[in-house]
Amino acid sequence: MKVMSVVGARPQFVKLAAVAAAFGDTDYDHVIVHTGQHYDADLSDVFFSGLCIPEPDVHLGVGSGTHGVQTGTILAALDPVIAAARPDWVLVYGDTNSTLAGALSAAKQHTPVAHLEAGLRSFNRRMPEEHNRVLTDHAADLLLAPTEESVRHLAAEGLAERVVLTGDVMVDVCLRVRDTVLNGEACAPALPVSLDAQEPYLFATLHRAENTDDPERLAALVDALAGLPVPVVLAAHPRLLARTEDFGIKLIHGSLHVSRPLPYAELIATILGSCGVITDSGGLQKETFLLERVCTTIRTETEWPETLRGGWNTLVPNPGELSPQAWSDTVLRPASRASRDMPYGDGRAAGRVVRALEDHAGGLHAR
Ligand code: UD1
Repeated sequence: MKVMSVVGARPQFVKLAAVAAAFGDTDYDHVIVHTGQHYDADLSDVFFSGLCIPEPDVHLGVGSGTHGVQTGTILAALDPVIAAARPDWVLVYGDTNSTLAGALSAAKQHTPVAHLEAGLRSFNRRMPEEHNRVLTDHAADLLLAPTEESVRHLAAEGLAERVVLTGDVMVDVCLRVRDTVLNGEACAPALPVSLDAQEPYLFATLHRAENTDDPERLAALVDALAGLPVPVVLAAHPRLLARTEDFGIKLIHGSLHVSRPLPYAELIATILGSCGVITDSGGLQKETFLLERVCTTIRTETEWPETLRGGWNTLVPNPGELSPQAWSDTVLRPASRASRDMPYGDGRAAGRVVRALEDHAGGLHAR
């Protein structure tokens, strides 16, 4: 069996780490195509080196652009790559423009497509990621669902026959790296030099278009973070840096301490060292839950509703809700004491992904 993984953006590299390791235990041919959607070393190379992912076999080098340009460029560049390699499966990950382009290129060439992290829904059709998820699920032949909730979403859209519940491969990676951090085999929290390492701190990220692309909203969010009564370590995504500069918004002031995007092990160490996380990232909400820290999510909805149970995660879409009157209910609320089940699986999802691809290889070729 030959499987081609198509990846391009930071969260996909984390998922790929689990899948590549699982393929490493088999005789199957696993080909990695990097679209180049993320090209900064901080968003790409450090994940390959830090998580021991094999170097990509093909790099498309597409870079940035509007959604249409980025998706279309990847689509056009992938066509000959898939045609030449003739894989049994094209495996696409998550919800980025690389995901949708990979699924479309394969589907149009009658190459079976499997979607890892299928069935997530925010039900917010203004998010580019929601378009990518829905369209990819409907184009794919095999839907690798991370949670029971995602299975229900797919069934509601008439896709139940294509679904396999695998659990979430990010759990595989997160728990493995957590253990190396706790055993002292990996790094310590990555704190900016401006911060006293003994002080309690919050860890934050902000990158989604709906939070960064409206100058008034972005300014209100930055001010709210800067006004918090404990230091906030903000690992700044290039989109955030670009927008604050475009809009003339001062990032480093008040409680805000800015760092570069963190490599994965440093990210895990920094979350473990924090007293809570503030984010609009999907993956980080879940990692914070797995690492038993409280998360405050700057969005109106989440694709990971299981994190909301027991108060581990809370949705705070309005920067006004980060006011001093509300701190104790939001970012500085105490850790939940609720006991938790394991809604994201047992840390062995990648093995199930390989088995699902094995089980269905050959059965879906006649599109
Ligand atoms: C993308 C994904 C999002 C994912 C996120 C993780 C889509 C629609 N969105 O969002 O689902 O959560 O990745 O980070 O695919 N840039 C750089 N260097 C880079 C990459 C990007 O400077 O290496 C800048 C570019 O100016 C670009 C902007 O960041 O315009 C946004 O990048 P883009 O790939 O469009 O989306 P993300 O916000 O990273």
